[in-house]
Amino acid sequence: MSICLAVLVSGRGSNMKAILEARAQGRLDASISVVLSNNPDAPALEIARQYGVPAVAVSHKGLTREQHEKKVLEELGKYKIDFVVLAGYMRILTSQFLNAFRHPSGYFRVINIHPSILPAFPGASGYEDAFAYGVRISGVTVHLVDEQVDHGPILAQACFVREDDDTLESFRARGLELEHRLYPSVLQSIALQGINLLPQALKPAVITAGDTSH
Ligand code: GRF
Repeated sequence: MSICLAVLVSGRGSNMKAILEARAQGRLDASISVVLSNNPDAPALEIARQYGVPAVAVSHKGLTREQHEKKVLEELGKYKIDFVVLAGYMRILTSQFLNAFRHPSGYFRVINIHPSILPAFPGASGYEDAFAYGVRISGVTVHLVDEQVDHGPILAQACFVREDDDTLESFRARGLELEHRLYPSVLQSIALQGINLLPQALKPAVITAGDTSH
């Protein structure tokens, strides 16, 4: 089954590029309906256009989180989207946004990649924090998004060894290279088999305020 994706970015867009490249090479059975950025200057937007994908900016400047999310939802509402794919999207999503993508099974159809083995080192500087801590093994996580930052049911993880002579730069480069392989392959597995979670993964992750169905 082919899936329709919207990719949300804020900056460089190397993960987005890996996804678009996988699609162009026939390794990902998905259509990318739109690439959207909260940052009009994101280099990712230009890259998306080079791949022939509609790329739009919805700036958050001067807007409350809710106002901005509404504008993003309006834009995404123009397409029939199976999954929202976060690729370096530096905005925290509220229930208002997530509920627009709620699957009947309870999870949100929003996917993120994070540069650590979650639940270790959530936050905006996963590589820096893991490196500074002195981890011997680190990695990357692809997960479904919930209301907490860098949290939610885990879809896939991949790890790498920190070498004795690693600098932060080489550590990050090894991780990023792993991200670029993992993200498209997880999306392809979703296209082929749907969402595949371990049995316990949904329980703690999707209980929302006021939701008594769990
Ligand atoms: C990646 O390290 C990703 O894991 C994190 O933000 C970074 C985005 O990089 N969420 P890019 O824009 O995909 O190059």
